Amino acid sequence: MYSNYTEYLKTINNVAQSNFKSNPIYIDMLDHVSFDLGCEYLKLIETEFPYITKEQIIEFLNINDKYGNPVKYNFNNDKIYGNATSIRYIYHALLILNYYKNTNSTEIVELGCGYGGLFLALCFYSKKLNIKINKYYFIDFPEACDLIKNYILLNKNIFDGINYEFHNSNTYGLNISNNNLFFVSNYCFTEIENEHREKYIEYLLPKCNNGFIVWQTLFRYNINNSETIFKNVQTEEERPQTCYHSRFKNYFVYFKDDVEQLESNNEIIEQLESNNEIIEQLESNNEPIEIINSIELLNINNEII
Ligand SMILES: C[S@@+](CC[C@H](N)C(=O)[O-])C[C@H]1O[C@@H](n2cnc3c(N)ncnc32)[C@H](O)[C@@H]1O
Repeated sequence: MYSNYTEYLKTINNVAQSNFKSNPIYIDMLDHVSFDLGCEYLKLIETEFPYITKEQIIEFLNINDKYGNPVKYNFNNDKIYGNATSIRYIYHALLILNYYKNTNSTEIVELGCGYGGLFLALCFYSKKLNIKINKYYFIDFPEACDLIKNYILLNKNIFDGINYEFHNSNTYGLNISNNNLFFVSNYCFTEIENEHREKYIEYLLPKCNNGFIVWQTLFRYNINNSETIFKNVQTEEERPQTCYHSRFKNYFVYFKDDVEQLESNNEIIEQLESNNEIIEQLESNNEPIEIINSIELLNINNEII
């Protein structure tokens, strides 16, 4: 299934000069989101993430579409000009960050990373939204890792401060030494052969406590398997649905390690934030120091685990 594609990857020498995103083999594998789907992704970004500005979308498209010569379209009455797959990376990055920020993971591992487009989107929007990613692990074929290494370096400033490591697919994440990773795998974990998936389940997934997957059922890997592999699974039908075959849907699958603990931590954080607002208000009104101290004492007594 991947042999033509990996043979093609071997022919890419100079990534900055390459037209790989308009190569038919590459388009067939991953750079194939249509204009219509691109419009739907833009609408979803607008409704689900209204705090993301049009300028922040255009800025990312200008970065990610600069190299590889992708197919570009005019969207939104010509206000947005860019590649529809890049727009999908923006939407997926925002979904992931929105979930990731409420987990206890600080490192992300991506299985099946294309050319690194989702990575760049995650780095770009995590900085805009003040969400910290400490480290990123890429797992893919050696040929894909070579492309990603060279591609992301063309936009080094986007991921300043975020460490990263590459792992070849034949090691199945065995050499990743850290735990409590946030797992991301879009159109890969459910697409690869069972033999490989089983090895990822054995070697990589025990190190992943939280995650997000775009899950395809077209390759006969049933969505019910998500409940067996992961804890606290939440599934949603993919938005927009991109499986062309009406019998086989795609899903967004989220999973999280310790829901109760995280929820109680979030409640404490919200309480602390509201107490801090009260303190600021009291201070600006020159209220007696005893009242302010008593609220500060409440904050000190709240310990976050
Ligand atoms: C359909 S593409 C999806 C790429 C990207 N996640 C996206 O959303 O555009 C599948 C990706 O999985 C990678 N892949 C295929 N088999 C793999 C394996 N056994 N281990 C790791 N990556 C693999 C391919 O090289 C490619 O990057």
